Amino acid sequence: MKIRALIVGLAALGFAAAAAAAEPIVIKFSHVVATDTPKGKGAEKFKELAEKYTNGAVKVEVYANSTLYKDKEEMEALQLGAVQMVAPSLAKFGPLGVRTFEVFDLPYIFDNADDLHKVTTGPVGKKLFASLEPKGIKGLAYWDNGFKVFSANTPLHKVEDFKGLKMRIQSSKVLDEQMRALKSLPQVMAFSEVYQALQTGVVDGTENPPSNLYTQKMYEVQKHVTISNHGYLGYAVITNKKFWDGLPGNVRDQLEKAMDEATEYANSIAKDENVSAMAAVKASGKSEVYTPTAEERSALKKALYPVHKEMTSRIGKETIEAVYKATGFDPSKM
Ligand code: LMR
Repeated sequence: MKIRALIVGLAALGFAAAAAAAEPIVIKFSHVVATDTPKGKGAEKFKELAEKYTNGAVKVEVYANSTLYKDKEEMEALQLGAVQMVAPSLAKFGPLGVRTFEVFDLPYIFDNADDLHKVTTGPVGKKLFASLEPKGIKGLAYWDNGFKVFSANTPLHKVEDFKGLKMRIQSSKVLDEQMRALKSLPQVMAFSEVYQALQTGVVDGTENPPSNLYTQKMYEVQKHVTISNHGYLGYAVITNKKFWDGLPGNVRDQLEKAMDEATEYANSIAKDENVSAMAAVKASGKSEVYTPTAEERSALKKALYPVHKEMTSRIGKETIEAVYKATGFDPSKM
């Protein structure tokens, strides 16, 4: 009788252990943009592939549009292990104390996405990811968004047009300097608060890749958009290093495979997503969309190039020069 009870007890324990083993590993992936954006779609693709390749051993919960955390909080939540994956814009690493990342914010440092990829997929990209590890963060991938446009309620054609305007920026010293170079007044603000700040006139204008301008409906509260393409906005998909290193090896391998494919997908759609977002902004008729003339573009470049020099000691000469070298950047063209 006793033995029978023992057997029944052990069997129950076995089931419990099996049930526990079947509990999926949960990855909370938090981000601040809409699902219908390059980053939002990349996150959904990662979820689909990660769950498929691990046969359900991993469950990915994607929280879009700042539903869990706002800009600064999401990085802290990752470090504390409250979420396992986030994909902040590259501008968001400066406030973490990793200033080398601010190189991506320099105006006109990349002519096109190919130049950017030379940096992210080369030694500079690797070195930047290595610099996150002492912060308990592991860099998994670089995801594209696109080149930024300026917007405001007044036309932004000439450098003088920016004077005195309150312009929302991400928390980046380089972006702060960029707006000051145009004699505008930079205002740091969380992404989730920008629409309302524009609507109520707390700020006059901002900068965004078209996908964000469109999906956050900012164009509805901005009368003018200038296709300046003056700087780049993209992301680093990062995870909590302790969490990642603690995963069973076979699970981690499958997640890496899922991330590689999700990255390829996200980066393959980013350009078109931005082109169609810009077309939708134009079609809405709510904002007047302006393309600067060659002279206006060159005046803007001239006004903004000094930001590279101003920020060199902060970002580090070595990093800036490594980027210049990788892309063939020619300061004389500025
Ligand atoms: C912003 O704050 O403007 C961007 O970082 C938002 C984003 O993630 O694209």
